[in-house]
Amino acid sequence: MDIKTLFKYAIGAGAIGAILGGGTLGLLHLAAAMNTPPAPPAGSPEAKTQAEATLQAKCAACHGASTDTYNPLLNILSLGMMQRDVEAGQRSFSLVPDAAVRTGAVDLLKMDQVLVRRHMPPLAYRVMHPGTGLTEQDVATLRTLYSTEAVDSVRYGIISPAPAPANAQDAAKIQLGKLLYNDGRLSTTNAVSCASCHDLTKGGTDNLAKSEGVPGADGKPQLGGVNAPTVYNAETNIRQFWDGRAADLKEQAGGPPLNPVEMGYAHPEDWNKIAAKLAQSPELTVLFAAAFGDKGITADTITEAIAAYEKTLRTPDSAFDRYQQGDKTALSESAVAGKLAFEQQGCATCHSGPTLGGQSFEYINTYANLRDLATPANYTESAYGLADFTKKEAHKDMFRVPLLRNVALTAPYFHTGSVNKLEDAVRIMILTQGKEDASDETVGNITAFLQAQTGKLNGKPIDKLAPDDVKP
Ligand code: HEC
Ligand code: HEC
Ligand code: HEC
Repeated sequence: MDIKTLFKYAIGAGAIGAILGGGTLGLLHLAAAMNTPPAPPAGSPEAKTQAEATLQAKCAACHGASTDTYNPLLNILSLGMMQRDVEAGQRSFSLVPDAAVRTGAVDLLKMDQVLVRRHMPPLAYRVMHPGTGLTEQDVATLRTLYSTEAVDSVRYGIISPAPAPANAQDAAKIQLGKLLYNDGRLSTTNAVSCASCHDLTKGGTDNLAKSEGVPGADGKPQLGGVNAPTVYNAETNIRQFWDGRAADLKEQAGGPPLNPVEMGYAHPEDWNKIAAKLAQSPELTVLFAAAFGDKGITADTITEAIAAYEKTLRTPDSAFDRYQQGDKTALSESAVAGKLAFEQQGCATCHSGPTLGGQSFEYINTYANLRDLATPANYTESAYGLADFTKKEAHKDMFRVPLLRNVALTAPYFHTGSVNKLEDAVRIMILTQGKEDASDETVGNITAFLQAQTGKLNGKPIDKLAPDDVKP
């Protein structure tokens, strides 16, 4: 919090204090706080009860199931800051986990951030409600609910190479999926394939702000609404797409062919046209039979094969993986400093797990608005995140967190595709989501850390892949 905000709070606090005789009230709070019994041993049932009581007393006003708790008159006196804190609190974290928005691992990391930094409740709330700051004892008992060991195991992780196919049928599915992924016949022009927009030699993207689909009436390629994310490691996403409208890779693969802008078809029955084109290929016909028996060439078998292939697009063995596995020479000094800053700034609370992201939907405008910093001139915003899929007002502006594994290769950045340099994307993220101001040196260090996330496909670093390495 900056001095100006503190000053405003002080005025608000003073006014309220005068009206309520807040001194007495504060003292009562304080007496209650000082009267705490000795700490129960961490992990015990008593510690659990105490931890839950602490959350109820000190946190639920802004993060509980019902947060309609502030007094409208006092809110006016606080110059609207009460409402702002309650609403921003609600948007940042909930004590009632919502599996549709976040995995439990992400909730755990967010709470850990708070227990380490003890920046909750916000200072102004602590000033107005003496005794609500987190004590050492609170932190210890809360560790019973949010354990340190679990945090370490979910913050980063090592992604394993794709397992070898279990049997001949699975092998056929993957081989078929690879052919289909590169096959233009999934589009009306026979020229646009999945690989056109998700080129494995370009970090699994097209490196364009907006993807180019089949031509429109003017003969020029039609442009997608949002930036194309990478297909590498996409299997690990909580759901697919910036707005989460597909549950998994198979469901996702059904989207582009029937997208009039991308591959040009528009109706479910158009799958018959695609199937008829594919059936002309003897090679594909044999593979469909080997993979799916007599199920034939359908939307279901096409998308299942493509998904099976995409699941092989894992990129283990980044410099950072080698560092985590004990090779302390794998990272530069700058990247090691960057790792620390990435944790201190809270980046790792959203960009976590083996692919550094994909585990949750998060607001891009809780305090600072990403769009103010990362929307080019003349850009027409067409995406509002999870709400585009769920139609829930509360999900507006919650975007699926992108994966940062291989991020050095996937420019331009953000759903707007508006930022070309990784360093600039880092700077913007620090402004919108970071915990403190950062020097140019810190920005450079975090960038170096992210550059160390480039992995390997089948043993070859993906920034060194030639077209021949990824052809079917
Ligand atoms: C007066 C309202 C308020 C209270 C009370 C409050 N918070 Fe928050 N909380 C916020 C706001 C505002 C944010 C988002 C801004 C920020 O992170 O500083 C937030 C963010 C968080 C986050 C998201 C992670 C993060 O660092 O941004 C967690 C976790 C959290 N609070 C936990 C707690 C816990 C635990 C308590 C009780 C000890 C608590 N909060 C009490 C308002 C509140
Ligand atoms: C014309 C370009 C284009 C084509 C062709 C295309 N995609 Fe995409 N792809 C995109 C864009 C743009 C997005 C993001 C759309 C969104 O989130 O709303 C995307 C999203 C995805 C995602 C989600 C990744 C994530 O992080 O959520 C996957 C997986 C994917 N595409 C795979 C495929 C497959 C498989 C095909 C072929 C069947 C394909 N794409 C064809 C442009 C394309
Ligand atoms: C509260 C969750 C959250 C935190 C904390 C967070 N990010 Fe992000 N990050 C996101 C979301 C959501 C996006 C996508 C935003 C968009 O495109 O609209 C994103 C996008 C990015 C991108 C662009 C990736 C791409 O492929 O387009 C980079 C780079 C990035 N974040 C780095 C960081 C760094 C560095 C930090 C710490 C300073 C950080 N993030 C903190 C949620 C978060």
